[in-house]
Amino acid sequence: MNARPIRCLVTAGPTREFFDPVRFISNPSSGKMGYAIATAAAQQGWAVSLITGPVALASPAGMEVVRVVTGEEMYTETAARFPECDILIMSAAVSDYRPKQQATQKVKKHELGMTLEMEPTRDILKTLGWQKVKQVVVGFAAETTNVEHYAREKLAAKNCDYIVANQVGQAGAGFESDDNRILVIGRDGSQQVFGPAPKTALAEDLVQLLSDVLHSQRQ
Ligand code: CTP
Repeated sequence: MNARPIRCLVTAGPTREFFDPVRFISNPSSGKMGYAIATAAAQQGWAVSLITGPVALASPAGMEVVRVVTGEEMYTETAARFPECDILIMSAAVSDYRPKQQATQKVKKHELGMTLEMEPTRDILKTLGWQKVKQVVVGFAAETTNVEHYAREKLAAKNCDYIVANQVGQAGAGFESDDNRILVIGRDGSQQVFGPAPKTALAEDLVQLLSDVLHSQRQ
């Protein structure tokens, strides 16, 4: 019998990549799903660290909340806690690209070209997925088409144990909405659909599924 609480890392929200002090590249992630997952995990008695990009949500009680802005900051805070965690849930919508150059002063309109040179950001999930020893690693796949196909590709490429796939870009689902439908695919071949339902209910279902997985591992 192992009495130590499950240590859980949840990332949430968008990241921002600035090209000058007042302008950035980002995405419309609200953070609602990640915050709901962190809350459901804390309610299970897990020791939760929530690493969050900029969102308009209040910090949930009963957990460590770490606020970050850029993808590299999210990577640093997540990687620092990863070796000691039992489960990583990467629900953040990390900006895939960042401007190659960041001006230290505001760029004036007449100096700003119409083309912004970009470079990829570090893939946090992929980096940590391939470093895992015994952690359960859960990724997310937000897709507009071929949801299951792309989700399976990400599960393998990022060495996840589970991938939570959802369709975005439609009214009433995904990024900014309160409701969602998720498909949870396991590397063990399992597949489950939850919803359409409020993100809070989906988060509870997902955490329950992961709790069962972690408890069966501990036996
Ligand atoms: N992710 C990450 N670091 C990044 C980009 C994404 O950790 N720089 C994580 C997300 O948190 C999510 C998963 O990877 O759990 C899937 O992200 P997504 O953007 O959908 O996948 P990509 O690998 O960026 O693929 P594509 O943009 O081609 O769909």
